[in-house]
Formats: sequence, C-alpha cells, structure tokens
Amino acid sequence: MPVTVIVGTQWGDEGKGKITDLLACDMDIVVRYQGGNNAGHTVVIGDKSFKLHLIPSGIFYENVLCVIGNGVVVDPSVLLEEIDSLKESGYSCNGLKISSQAHLIFPYHKDLDAAQEQKHEAGRIGTTCRGIGPCYIDKYSRRGIRVSDIYNEKVFVEKLEWNIAEKSFLLNQFYGMEVEYDIDLLKEQYLGYAEAIRKYVIEDSSYLVNDAVSAKKKVLMEGAQGMMLDVDHGTYPYVTSSNPISGGACTGAGIAPNAISEILGVVKAYVTRVGDGPFPTEIKGGIGELLREKGHEYGATTGRPRRCGWFDGVVMRHASKINGLTGLVVTKLDVLSSFDIIKICTSYQYDGKEIKNFPSDIYKLDKCIPIYEELAGWKEDISKIKNYKELPLNARKYLDRLSALAEAPISMVSVGAERTQIIKL
Ligand code: GDP
Ligand code: IMO
Ligand code: MG
Repeated sequence: MPVTVIVGTQWGDEGKGKITDLLACDMDIVVRYQGGNNAGHTVVIGDKSFKLHLIPSGIFYENVLCVIGNGVVVDPSVLLEEIDSLKESGYSCNGLKISSQAHLIFPYHKDLDAAQEQKHEAGRIGTTCRGIGPCYIDKYSRRGIRVSDIYNEKVFVEKLEWNIAEKSFLLNQFYGMEVEYDIDLLKEQYLGYAEAIRKYVIEDSSYLVNDAVSAKKKVLMEGAQGMMLDVDHGTYPYVTSSNPISGGACTGAGIAPNAISEILGVVKAYVTRVGDGPFPTEIKGGIGELLREKGHEYGATTGRPRRCGWFDGVVMRHASKINGLTGLVVTKLDVLSSFDIIKICTSYQYDGKEIKNFPSDIYKLDKCIPIYEELAGWKEDISKIKNYKELPLNARKYLDRLSALAEAPISMVSVGAERTQIIKL
C-alpha cells in the first residue's frame, strides 16, 4: 500500500511541514486532508524560510501533485496570496489541485470566530480567528458553500444570501456587533476568486488519489494541527474543529483505511501549545521561557508565544494508540542540548492514584499532577550530526525512552530547522 500519513502527536507545531517537505521528494502526491489556514507549516530550504498555511508542503518539488482535499476549509484570499508568494520565490504551483468539495471561508466566518472569542470570555478557546470553526459548523449544518458552488452563480447567490441573513442576525442581535455585509461586493469578490483558482480546481480529488493508489504511486497525507487538538480525541473544548488524527485522512481525502501502510507521528522532543486549554507538563517561567527562546517557539500563523513544557508520555501513548503510529519522527532534539537534567512525564497522579490513560474529561485533567522521571542531559551541539551513532549517549537514551513510551520505533530525528538537518534511522 503506497499511502503514508504524517500526523502531529501533540498540540500542533511539531514540525510536520519540515518532515512533509523532506519525504515529498520521493512522493507523487501530497495531500492536506483537514484544517485550513489555522495551520502554519514551516519549511526551511538553505537560508530561506517558507510558512505554508494551506498549500501542502510538497509544493517545492515541481513533479509532485499537491492536493487540497475535500476535508480542508479554504480561505481563497489566503490561498491566492500564498500562491503569489510562492511564485515570486520561483515555485510555479503548477502541481496544485483543489477539491471542489472543500468548503470556503467567508468574512462572516472570521467575524463569528472573533465574536465568539470576545463574548464568551470564560469559554475562550484562543483560536487563530481565521474562521475555521464557524466554517466547519456550516459544513456540518449543511449550509456551507463549497468550492464547486462558486462556479454555479445561481446556487452560489442563493446560498450566500441565506448565510448573510443568518450570520448578520447572529452577529448583530446575539453578539452585539455592528456588521453589514454588501452581498454584491462579496459576490463579485468570490466570483473573482473562482476565476483566479479555476485552473487548480478538480471535481473530486478522491479519484485522483485513489487512481494513484491503484497505480502503486506514492501518496503522502499531511496532517495539520495535532492529536490533542482533535475535536473528538483532544482536550475538548480546547481543540480545533476537525480530525487531525490519521483516521481523518480517510474522510478528508476520500481514501480507505486499508490503503494506508505507514503512519508517522511527528513528536517534538518537548511539548508546546498555543492558545488556551489544559497542558499538564507546562513549565511557567524559567525553563519554559528558555525552551521558548532556544526553540523560537512563536506561532507560525499568529506569532503568539507558544507555551512550553516537558515531554508528556501520557499524551504520547494516547497519540500512539489512536493514530496507530508505525514510526516516530522526533524533532527539535537540538533544542534540548545543554540541559543538565531533562524530565519526562510518564504518568499522572489523579485522586491519589497513578493513571496512564489520558483523561477525556478536562475537569479531571485539570486535577492531574504529572509524575516525572529524570534523565541526564548532554552538552554537545548535535545540529550537524547525520548519523544516529554519533549522537551523545544521553541523547540516545532519551530517544529510547520516548520510543518505549510510544511503543513505536523512531524513523528519523530532526536536529535543526533546515531540510538537511535530519538523522535517518
Ligand atoms: P508544523 O506546524 O508542525 O509544521 O510546525 P511549525 O512550522 O509551526 O513549527 C515548527 C518550528 O520548528 C518551525 O519554526 C521549524 O522551522 C522548526 N523546526 C522544525 N524541526 C526543527 C528541528 O529539528 N530543530 C529546530 N531547532 N527547529 C526545527
Ligand atoms: P499546525 O498545523 C498549533 C489551535 C489554536 C487554538 C485551537 C483552536 O501549524 O500545527 P482554531 O483556529 O483551529 O479554531 O483554534 O487550535 N491551533 C493550532 N495550534 N498549531 C496549529 O496548526 C494550530 N491550528 C489551530 O491556537 O488553541
Ligand atoms: Mg505550525
């Protein structure tokens, strides 16, 4: 089976963009299957750094098709900006394909996202305010506008009128905002986008992907966000509105589970989280700030400082089971160089008892205290190492412990942001 899935195993920003780019050179197709421009995937090639929000991270290879699948929510203005900026850097984007079944983000989605965050202070999620949640709400309430709709003016206008009436009511009457949408202007704008993206749109991207699978071509699925932001299996309600887990690749790209042969979990050597919500191993101040500075832990999408903490083995075990990980890619190991002691959380203490399973109830999670094991650190600069055996012994012991907690083998170790800073096992 030729399909590999890349998933984030923590709260996003594990380095999925770098790993997707790295593997993409041997692929025929790279597919984004969920999320939208809440994602920020960094690819560093030489001294150039690219931040991709919607376009799959295989776009730097001319011969690789890059598919935005049916499960993605697309803000066309962001997409066009991203295409332009890639073209300016010399990447043609000729291999880009957009599923006509993907849903479109409109300005009212972004306004609703912001309004919900402002009005519901106590229940604030700390979203990226890109309209992701409200767009998925429309998808599931069956009022959404898909890419295909902007090529059918009558249908498009009917749907747009309904949505504008509904959202204006909500925003003005419930959220107390003062918004007014000019339907003609929005119509012209989106019909303009329709023309601008027409050459990339395909009717049903699942056929493209499944034909490739039948022809034994190589397909890579690029997850966005991460396990703990999954709407079903993460720290609900402090999650995103899609399923980043490996199972999400089946619905978001239209492939069968038995087409998947490899599921790679991208694992940051410590843990970060942007936005609100529980984070048991968070370190406030001191070492947390040191990790943020050494790891340049600032959001690739919003620039917000990422909260940092020690590696969480309970989260890892949860991610390993739900995703069915066949291998791990450990990233940012270089950031841990220079610590005397490195801590790993192996279980939680709840109500006086030790627990190893991640609690699905965040109120229970709030009362969990991490139980740590301490490992000796290493001082050497590891950022130029290419061979696993050359890593300091303590770094290898650390990796062994991560692999044991995940019950999965390590496939690669990343020791720097640049494309070539990788150790393959
Ligand atoms: P993604 O959303 O999972 O693709 O991750 P982001 O791009 O949001 O965040 C990962 C950050 O770490 C980016 O700035 C990457 O360039 C950087 N990065 C990736 N791998 C490594 C690594 O092994 N070492 C270091 N120091 N930085 C890395
Ligand atoms: P990548 O793909 C990290 C977080 C937001 C917020 C929550 C809900 O780069 O790993 P949303 O805008 O999705 O409704 O916000 O999810 N979040 C991410 N955190 N990396 C991401 O993507 C994220 N996408 C969303 O900060 O806590
Ligand atoms: Mg990111």
